[in-house]
Amino acid sequence: MPFDHNDHYHRLLLRKLPPHGRTALDIGCGTGRFARLLAARGYEVDALDPAPDVIAAARAAGGGPRFRTADVTEEDLPEGRYDVITCLASLHHMPFGTVTRLRAALAPGGALLVLGCYAGTTWWDLAAAPANAVARVAVYAGERLRGAHEPPLAPPVRQPDMTLPRIRAEAARLLPGSGVRQLLFWRYLLTYQRDGSQRDDAQRG
Ligand SMILES: C[S@@+](CC[C@H](N)C(=O)[O-])C[C@H]1O[C@@H](n2cnc3c(N)ncnc32)[C@H](O)[C@@H]1O
Repeated sequence: MPFDHNDHYHRLLLRKLPPHGRTALDIGCGTGRFARLLAARGYEVDALDPAPDVIAAARAAGGGPRFRTADVTEEDLPEGRYDVITCLASLHHMPFGTVTRLRAALAPGGALLVLGCYAGTTWWDLAAAPANAVARVAVYAGERLRGAHEPPLAPPVRQPDMTLPRIRAEAARLLPGSGVRQLLFWRYLLTYQRDGSQRDDAQRG
């Protein structure tokens, strides 16, 4: 299995989970690796992906989440339900404005965590190329040592079309108070916390 830029950030995302969270929704869950990590931390997890083959693979791997074949842009999400909503490398598959539906599905005090992909190259991305090469070699060597060679089912991928400045501007407009942090490996982390008093505001925008 090659170095996975999304899995690399699982630990960072787990550190951002709200304390005492119980309910989680993972959007574009793929084969469910992150959804299973949430379930292992005691979350009751709903995990959605529109690709039937990846949902079949996620269900076969088990681990606790309720995996469902669903497109989040067409889904009626329950309002105010989730303590955490995660989107790992999936937001660029849908209109960025989908974040307003996710915001409405957050429980008061709940957190939206987006590990996103952006378009274009920044000076920071120049540092990613050597780090990427080192990480790939390390993962390849580790797998050779363990004798692993079965490639896992790969979820659908798509090239992002929003630059980081545009993502920051849209996040500021649609998710006031959110933060967008640039990460290595062409990724960003968007964090947003729904105010405990903000029940109806989430319907605007
Ligand atoms: C690059 S994969 C990432 C999968 C997984 N989150 C991970 O980190 O390995 C993007 C996923 O988003 C899913 N996706 C695309 N459009 C979607 C939509 N409208 N609603 C929910 N998921 C979607 C794809 O089917 C795909 O599995």
